[in-house]
Amino acid sequence: MPSASHPSLSSALASIEEQFDLSKIKLQGILDRFRERMVYGLQNHGAAMAMIPSYVTGTPDGSEKGVYLALDLGGTNLRVCEVTLGGEGKVSMKQEKYKVSDQLKTGPVENLFDYIAASVAKFLKDFSSAAPQNPQDGPLLMGFTFSFPVEQTAIDRGTLISWTKGFSCPGAVGLEVVQLLQGCLDRQHVPVRVNALVNDTVGALLAHAYHAKGALLGAIFGTGTNGAYVEAVERIGKMNAAHAHGEETMIINTEWGGFDDERAALLITLFDNTVDRTAIRPRHHAFEKMISGMYLGEVVRTVLIHLVDSLHLFQGFSSELLNKQYGFDTAYVSAVLADKKPSNSADSPTRLVLVDTLGIKAEHVAEGDVETVKAVCKIVGRRAARLSSVAIAATLQHTGHDQHRGGAELQESDYIDIGCDGSVYEFLPYFEEWVREALRDLVGEGAEKRVRMALAKDGSGVGAALCALQAKKQHDRMLARSNTI
Ligand code: BGC
Repeated sequence: MPSASHPSLSSALASIEEQFDLSKIKLQGILDRFRERMVYGLQNHGAAMAMIPSYVTGTPDGSEKGVYLALDLGGTNLRVCEVTLGGEGKVSMKQEKYKVSDQLKTGPVENLFDYIAASVAKFLKDFSSAAPQNPQDGPLLMGFTFSFPVEQTAIDRGTLISWTKGFSCPGAVGLEVVQLLQGCLDRQHVPVRVNALVNDTVGALLAHAYHAKGALLGAIFGTGTNGAYVEAVERIGKMNAAHAHGEETMIINTEWGGFDDERAALLITLFDNTVDRTAIRPRHHAFEKMISGMYLGEVVRTVLIHLVDSLHLFQGFSSELLNKQYGFDTAYVSAVLADKKPSNSADSPTRLVLVDTLGIKAEHVAEGDVETVKAVCKIVGRRAARLSSVAIAATLQHTGHDQHRGGAELQESDYIDIGCDGSVYEFLPYFEEWVREALRDLVGEGAEKRVRMALAKDGSGVGAALCALQAKKQHDRMLARSNTI
């Protein structure tokens, strides 16, 4: 029976490891391409890594105050929040989650948006203390975190470029998202005005800046992956600088999940091709499919099935769930990586996942199999982290934040703050450690030390509220300017 010491198993594992390996030199090649595509996307519309101007020209400094609604669609649930910004970086929030069924995710877009509007109405009725009591009070302002690629044309305007993460409502691409939602809210007489359209990465950046008094990058490593950073307006060649209303910087939503859909630099394995070919949108968001929570478990599952089929795993037996697409959730990858128990112990978390959750027969799971599954999760998880570090390193270099401070001790102002959110960042063991290891390869230890990554607490909620506030500020400033002309 094959076991961990079986020569053909070790060579099968070595071959898998080699296919997923990203040595320093390979990573550097991907980084070079990433930087080139950043510049390209800033100059050209329609790039796979779209580099979308958000029309948000300022980041908060913690002093902001007010009550705003936030709506969050793009992960597993729909969420409605009432956010009270108390100044001094203080926030309090009421929130409620509403399930988005697969039928809504893939059915007519009108049904999805009607459901969203009805959820906002329900929230106001059940939970809100700020909902206007009389029509003359005016509507509540709401930031809409819509975490999909959107071609933005104003802080509250944008059309859907493509669905990602398992959503696929037909007829939605090209539609004006805020108008669609506002129409549904108005028809249902919900006293709310959507005044900001926000990507979750922009929200993460704003929320983190509010908390940390400034930040360079907001990054999501969750169901999908993406990042938003602060860019100099003069470098956004494809945008008329007048849209920045005299401000020098604007947040860019990179949509880095779409990096290298051309497959010029990414080292794509047979297993990635299998995951891609069977995904809702093949040949789209290749980078995301190697990094994010929607796909990591599926990459692991594809490798495990290959090892089962070549009789290196579970004596060649599988189970109904392991055979099923997306049957190996990324949460299991986290559980396996967190497993510190010896592989022969009956209650090792890895064994429990395999036997109790996935239904593989206990007698088919040898000690060596537990080791093999751990090794595969490590190979796939570490590659995801190393690729994530490419995106971070590229942003550091592109914005000139990759210098180090020699031997000198770091001062507070030397730190580069990155607000991160998402299940992979939060729950995948060793993720940040592996990201940092790769960052040292790419930008050196001095620059890596300056990077301060932290959980951006609730970017999609607090960030959307901050964006609604920012939109109001930008709007008031514009009005004041036009009144003085
Ligand atoms: C979407 C991005 C989003 C990211 C994280 C990707 O699939 O294209 O807009 O920011 O997921 O949620």
